[in-house]
Amino acid sequence: MNNQSRMPLVEALQSHIRKDTVSFHVPGHKNGELAGGQAGEFLQYDVTELTGLDDLHAPSEAIKEAQALLSDHYQTRKSYFLVNGSTVGNLAMILGVCEEGDTVFVQRNCHKSILNGLKLANVNPVFLHQEFDEHSATSTGISQGTLEEALKTYPDVKALILTYPTYYGMVYDLKSIIEVCHSHGVRVLIDEAHGAHLSIGKPFPVSALKWGADIVVQSAHKTLPAMTMGSYLHIRTDEINSKKVELYLGMLQSSSPSYPIMGSLDYARHYIASYSNDDLDYFLWNRKDFINRLKEAGYHVIEGDDPLKIMVRLPGLTGFQLQEELEHKGIFTELADPYQVLFVLPLLKQDDPFPFQKTLEKMTEIRPGSKSDKPIFFKKYKNITALRFSFKEIEKKTKEWVSLEEAAGKTAGEMLTPYPPGIPLFYPGEEITEESIQELKWLMAHGARFQGEHLLGEGKIRILL
Ligand SMILES: Cc1ncc(COP(=O)(O)O)c(C=O)c1O
Repeated sequence: MNNQSRMPLVEALQSHIRKDTVSFHVPGHKNGELAGGQAGEFLQYDVTELTGLDDLHAPSEAIKEAQALLSDHYQTRKSYFLVNGSTVGNLAMILGVCEEGDTVFVQRNCHKSILNGLKLANVNPVFLHQEFDEHSATSTGISQGTLEEALKTYPDVKALILTYPTYYGMVYDLKSIIEVCHSHGVRVLIDEAHGAHLSIGKPFPVSALKWGADIVVQSAHKTLPAMTMGSYLHIRTDEINSKKVELYLGMLQSSSPSYPIMGSLDYARHYIASYSNDDLDYFLWNRKDFINRLKEAGYHVIEGDDPLKIMVRLPGLTGFQLQEELEHKGIFTELADPYQVLFVLPLLKQDDPFPFQKTLEKMTEIRPGSKSDKPIFFKKYKNITALRFSFKEIEKKTKEWVSLEEAAGKTAGEMLTPYPPGIPLFYPGEEITEESIQELKWLMAHGARFQGEHLLGEGKIRILL
C-alpha cells in the first residue's frame, strides 16, 4: 500500500488504452476518434467510469488506491482528489465543518471561494485583518494578537479559516495560531492552495498539515505537475466529520470527473513523493543562478518564504508595465501588482531542462523606466470586522450605484475583486471605508483589472440601501 513509486490510476488508464477498445460510451469524442490528429491522441485518456477505472464518488479500486497513497504521503487521516480546483475543496471544507449560524473567523484577504463558501453555509463571518510585509510589499497572515482579541469578543466561535502560504509564498506563525485555536476547541481550516509542494520539507516552509491543521485544501495544479483544476483535500484530525465532507464533495463535484485530471493528480503525488535531495539541490542551484543573473541584469529580486516564488521588480516600471514588457517577449508571469511581478518557478527534478538562459537573454533587453513609486501601505482601519447584515438579509436588500466620492461609510453591495490574485477588495455587507476607496483608486490608477459587476470606468460602485 505504501509503495509511492506506483501510480495506480495512471497504470489503470494506460492498461485501458492498450486494450484498443471501441467506445460506445461518453465522452462524445469517442476515445478521440472524432477529434483526429494530436488532439485525438491526447483525448484517449479522457474516459469515464469503465470497468477497471473506478469511480471518484465511490472509490474501490485504482482511485481508492491512489487516494490512499496520497494520504500516506501527506500523513493524513483521509485525502481526496478534486477535479474542480481548490475552489470546490474550499466550499466542501466549509460546508463540511460549519453549521448555519456558526460564528467563523476568516482571514480577510482570502480567496473568493472561501467567501462564497461562507455564504453557502450561511454562517456569521468575522473577518480578521492581515498584516503587511514591507519587504515584499504584500499582505501576509493574521497575527496571534488579532486572534486572541477576536477570541475574547466571540468566545463561541466554531472555526478559523486561513490562507497559508499566501499567493506570494509568504508564511506566518501558523503553529502558535493552531495551538491557540485548538486550546479553545476551535477547528482550523486551511486554504493551502499554494502549498502542495511543501511536503518536500526544508528549505520550503512547513505545511499546515505538519503544524496540525484539521483540514487542508491544496491546488496540486499550482505548484506540482498536475493539470489545471487538479487539487487535493486532506482531513488530518478526528475532529472533522469525513462523511459530511464527502457528502458535499459528492454534491459539488461533477458526476463525470475528468480522468486526465485525476490521472495527473496521481502522477503529481508520485512526483512529489519521489522528490530526492539531488532533485532539491538541482532546483536550488538553478534558482540561485537565475536570481543572481537577474540581479546582474539590473532587476530587484525579492525572495519570500517559499523558494518556489520570487518577486521581480525593474526600477522605474510598475509591476503591470513590467508584465506587459515581459509578455511582449513571450515571458508570462503568474501575476503583477503595482510594484512587481510574481514568478512561480518550476519545481525541477535533476537534469530537467528549463529555458532560464533564453529567459535571461530576453529580460536583459528590457530597459528600466523613469517612474519611481515607493510601496504604499493602506493602513488597517480595524483588526476585526463583521458584516453589517446576515447573508439572507443582504440578498433581500435593494442596491444602488453611487460615486466613489460618496461611498465611504456605506455598505458594499457587490463583490469587487482585483484579479489576480482574486482577493475581494469589497465584499457585500461590509462597511466601505475611506481606506478601501483609496486603495481601489490607487489600484485603478496602476492598471489593475477587476472581476465583479462594476462601473469603475464611470467612477461608481454599488452599495446596499
Ligand atoms: C489562495 C487561493 N485559494 C484558492 C484558490 C482557488 O484555487 P483553484 O484555482 O485550484 O480553484 C486560489 C486560486 O488562485 C487561491 O489563490
